[in-house]
Amino acid sequence: MIQEDISLKQYNTFGIKAKAKRFATFSSKAELSEILNQRNNDELLILGGGSNLLLTKDFDGFAIRNEIKGFEVVSEDNNTVSIKVGSGEVWHEFVLRCIDNNYGGVENLSLIPGSVGASPMQNIGAYGVEIKDVFIELEAYHIETGKVKVFSHKECRFGYRESVFKRELKGEYIIVSVTYRLTKNKHQIKASYGAILSELENNQIDSPTIKDISNAVITIRSSKLPDPKEIGNAGSFFKNPVVEKSILEKIQENYENVPNYPAPNGLVKLAAGWLIEQAGWKGKTFGNYGVHKKQALVLVNYSDCTGENILNLSTQIIEDVKDRFGITLEREVNIV
Ligand code: FAD
Ligand code: EPU
Repeated sequence: MIQEDISLKQYNTFGIKAKAKRFATFSSKAELSEILNQRNNDELLILGGGSNLLLTKDFDGFAIRNEIKGFEVVSEDNNTVSIKVGSGEVWHEFVLRCIDNNYGGVENLSLIPGSVGASPMQNIGAYGVEIKDVFIELEAYHIETGKVKVFSHKECRFGYRESVFKRELKGEYIIVSVTYRLTKNKHQIKASYGAILSELENNQIDSPTIKDISNAVITIRSSKLPDPKEIGNAGSFFKNPVVEKSILEKIQENYENVPNYPAPNGLVKLAAGWLIEQAGWKGKTFGNYGVHKKQALVLVNYSDCTGENILNLSTQIIEDVKDRFGITLEREVNIV
């Protein structure tokens, strides 16, 4: 059923009150095809969980929400299992189901909001793991022709918070399923991320299981990231900048302990949250919106601010960080 002039507030984790001219949900490829037949040349907005989205105005087009479900083991051997998952499944529920089945590989990605179908969009990552590490292939519906194409790992061109679907093929495909390969035994436990190690130590766990890792990640995340059910947000608003070593060295002249991590091709990744905090923005509040108190990389809507408020704040932060450090922060969140 197509609804008209409906509020998208409950469909975006920022809790922005923008409206869509038309709105529908789909729970299969056939339903998707059916509603796209009624598109009438409207601009499309594909919604998963709306957790990486900033709506800056009413959407004068057709917003379609993905509810394609499914969890199917497509092959397995003694050590691994391949699972094809409907793109409208909730990501964290998928993670918990894997852990219950003792399937390893996604436990470090516990508690990331949103849908399975958006996981390859920006190659979601946290605590030393990215979706590309367990990804096999995905099926995507070509909006113009209605044909379904299978994309291999290589064709998705994953990068840090990047894929071909955020760049060259932006707006052309709707992801309908994703297939992941997980381990059934000999799990590769990734606990080297500092906060995970100390969380395990606090609980006196020496040989963590995938469930222990998931629990540690959930505890760490809950301690610093705001729960969108309480405070509107979309996680990290900016990407961590990847820069030449000379830029790091310049900052180190004034700040000896600037956090930095090795990146491919001899570059270094800096922590945008640290740069924003040094620039004095952490915890700043402007009436009903601001910068989160515990994590400067997260912009927050305390109650009914507009998407424009958040967008303008992000522009001010970009300009200030550029003036102070010579680094231009890039937004991670999709702006509509
Ligand atoms: P949406 O916001 O609905 O969509 C994101 C973009 O993808 C939009 O452009 C949309 O049109 C498009 N899209 C969605 N589904 C499809 C589809 N099926 N086919 C084609 N296009 C589609 N991200 C991380 O990587 N790591 C984190 O640790 C992390 N932590 C977060 C913590 C919080 C509290 C929040 C609120 C967000 C966090 N995020 C994180 C960001 C977000 O959860 C992820 O990017 C997630 O994958 C978005 O999923 P979604 O279904 O909500 O996407
Ligand atoms: N930091 C500060 N001040 C802050 C925030 C961070 O100084 O206000 C410093 C921390 O002390 C630490 C460093 O910055 O030295 C990194 O901080 P943290 O470990 O919290 O991670 P992050 O770089 O801020 C990234 C991802 C998160 C992901 C975590 C854990 C990006 C843009 N963000 O955050 O992903 O969950 O690492 O792996 O890469 C998201 O993409 O939405 C997201 C939440």
